[in-house]
Amino acid sequence: MYKIAVIAGTRPEAIKMAPIVKELEKTDGFECHLVATAQHRDMLDQVLELFDIEPFCDLDIMRANQDLTHVTTGVLHGMQKYISFGKPDMILVQGDTTTTYSAALAAFYAKIPVGYVEAGLRTWDRFSPWPEEANRQMTTSLCDIHYPPTQLSCDNLLAEKVSREDICITGNTAIDALNITIKNVANAPSHFDDGKTGILVTAHRRENHGEPIRDICGALLDIADALPDVQIVYPVHFNPNIQGPVRNLLGHRDDIKLIDPVDYTEFVKLMSDCKLILSDSGGVQEEAPSLNKPVLVMRESTERPEGVDSGAVKLVGTDRKLITETALELLNNESAYNAMAAASNPYGDGLASKRIVYRIGKFFDMDMEDPGEFTV
Ligand code: UD1
Ligand code: UDP
Repeated sequence: MYKIAVIAGTRPEAIKMAPIVKELEKTDGFECHLVATAQHRDMLDQVLELFDIEPFCDLDIMRANQDLTHVTTGVLHGMQKYISFGKPDMILVQGDTTTTYSAALAAFYAKIPVGYVEAGLRTWDRFSPWPEEANRQMTTSLCDIHYPPTQLSCDNLLAEKVSREDICITGNTAIDALNITIKNVANAPSHFDDGKTGILVTAHRRENHGEPIRDICGALLDIADALPDVQIVYPVHFNPNIQGPVRNLLGHRDDIKLIDPVDYTEFVKLMSDCKLILSDSGGVQEEAPSLNKPVLVMRESTERPEGVDSGAVKLVGTDRKLITETALELLNNESAYNAMAAASNPYGDGLASKRIVYRIGKFFDMDMEDPGEFTV
């Protein structure tokens, strides 16, 4: 029996790791340890509860307004303890958070093989997004199996001299999670009122703290002023650097509903019910094309150009005027809107977790059926 530790610290890691946990649990020859670093507390628990996943061990590191040093050292110390009593044969990390990098580093120090889910995304600018781009590059250098979601992310790894033999192109597990969750959406509560044009908003990135988040809020006010039938729903991330300005600047408007982060099923329902999404989230860019919803990405650069190339996503940055103009143009131009909504999803086919588990089996010389790599 091989013990595979699946590490999740934040909401997106838990959503994207949940399908892998489920796949490991139903595959003979594996024991799965979900290790929650709890870099996020409430938002992580929300996902684990929804997918009915009980952590094997919980490092419980989150502190209010934590800094990166706290997260890094908390995960390193906690992982060292887990490794000594859990004795995993392999550790899986996902994405680009500080949990991702620190858990991979702890595994490397203990000479335990590491599999990297959603490997190879790059902007090639260490400060955008910060610190995620550096987390990605540093994590790659510590890993043994690399699971890029797309051909482009595979090419990025090859450019960094990762051997093709250590790479398996999987598609993104976000699509696996979406396929599992979409079946339960009918029972989730609605947030948009009938007859309204719904705009769904999320924003949380560190590089958008300060002036950019205030500009984003300004754009939402301008959009709501320009369109009387619009209703904006914004589940506000618990980060105090987001909560403060968003609630101050937008809290007084009836046409802008500020709500706490909702569980994943409820969020999928929000994405299905809205007309347009404005977001700086990575995961939302990957999911929305499957629901035929255009996304305006409020960031200056993206490590996910596939969505831009397919036409499903537009990069608008955080300039108040540009966000407002692009959103209004799209809502007022049916053919431009339909072209974005109809673009196909380049990020996955729902089989990513099967490929990931198969490739772990291959690493341990287990006899398993090869699902083949993901191609668009
Ligand atoms: C982190 C990741 C980011 C990822 C995001 C997903 C890093 C450096 N950043 O950013 O890559 O996109 O998660 O959402 O790893 N908080 C709560 N409850 C929660 C979650 C957060 O109160 O459930 C508050 C706490 O005050 C915490 C703060 O938010 O200190 C910031 O959390 P942190 O994980 O450090 O950063 P995020 O901005 O969430
Ligand atoms: N999400 C959610 N509830 C919310 C907002 C987002 O479940 O209130 C989901 C969303 O569908 C996506 C993920 O959380 O799967 C994105 O997380 P986040 O934006 O925090 O991080 P990122 O993807 O930018 O790293």
